[in-house]
Amino acid sequence: MSNRFTIRPTGAALGADIVGFDFRRYTEADIAQLRTAWLEHLVLRFRDTDLDDPTQIRFSAEFGPPVIHPRQLQEGAHGEHPEILSISNLRKPDGSPAGDLGDGEVHWHTDTWFKERPPAGSFLRALQVPPEGGNTHFLNMYAAYEALPADMKTLIAERRIHHQTVYDGRGDVRMGMTVPESADVRTWPGVDHPIVRRHGESGRACLYLGGRRHASIVGMPPDESAAVLDALWAHVADERFTWTQIWRVGDLVAWDNRCTMHRRDAFDPNSARLMHRTTAEGERPN
Ligand code: SIN
Repeated sequence: MSNRFTIRPTGAALGADIVGFDFRRYTEADIAQLRTAWLEHLVLRFRDTDLDDPTQIRFSAEFGPPVIHPRQLQEGAHGEHPEILSISNLRKPDGSPAGDLGDGEVHWHTDTWFKERPPAGSFLRALQVPPEGGNTHFLNMYAAYEALPADMKTLIAERRIHHQTVYDGRGDVRMGMTVPESADVRTWPGVDHPIVRRHGESGRACLYLGGRRHASIVGMPPDESAAVLDALWAHVADERFTWTQIWRVGDLVAWDNRCTMHRRDAFDPNSARLMHRTTAEGERPN
């Protein structure tokens, strides 16, 4: 039986609320309609869900096979389901973190941009939210690309960014990595992705910046590369391209990781915030 739901765009540069979707009883046609809305609005929000982990895992698999981060496989690291990444400031009884990202600000990024095939989609569900702070901001990278001056579009056409894999977005050395002796980040291990990528499903061009820390434009002198990247990052961080999610318990937010970036506000360390994330596999950026 068909699942009747309504799509309500936020009116901002991206985002739509999906009202009345039944996660336990949907058809292929419902998923096709949702995927069309996802491609159009880039971020879908479902409010007041009563989802559990298995239902979230099953739903996000409709958008692509699950991506499992090595940290999720560490025993007891993120609960009983390896498909779930806990994003939280909570601590376990032994004092170790019960999730990733703590209570601090998280700067603009796309999820795991430093992988050969970054995820197509991320699905974040709120289990505990602080009374204030911890909001998540989303950025429409199609709109940011389209609004670039023509000379910048020409300058970055066919260019690639080298995304190093030594440090994470917060400046910590990644699991299993050592800091190279050379200070020249262009020689560090990492992946190269196009600055302007063509979305695998919509076919539209968008900016793909990933993360700023130690990134460099392939084949460009370091000073010029830093100046171009700084200009691009300054251009995208403009409210006309964004929409803000103010979390309520039960929210599920599904974003297209190929054509958006997101950032998160800090929150009071004495407040609890717990999110469960699932991730759907994506294509190699082209
Ligand atoms: C993230 O950056 O993936 C986490 C977003 C959030 O905690 O709201």
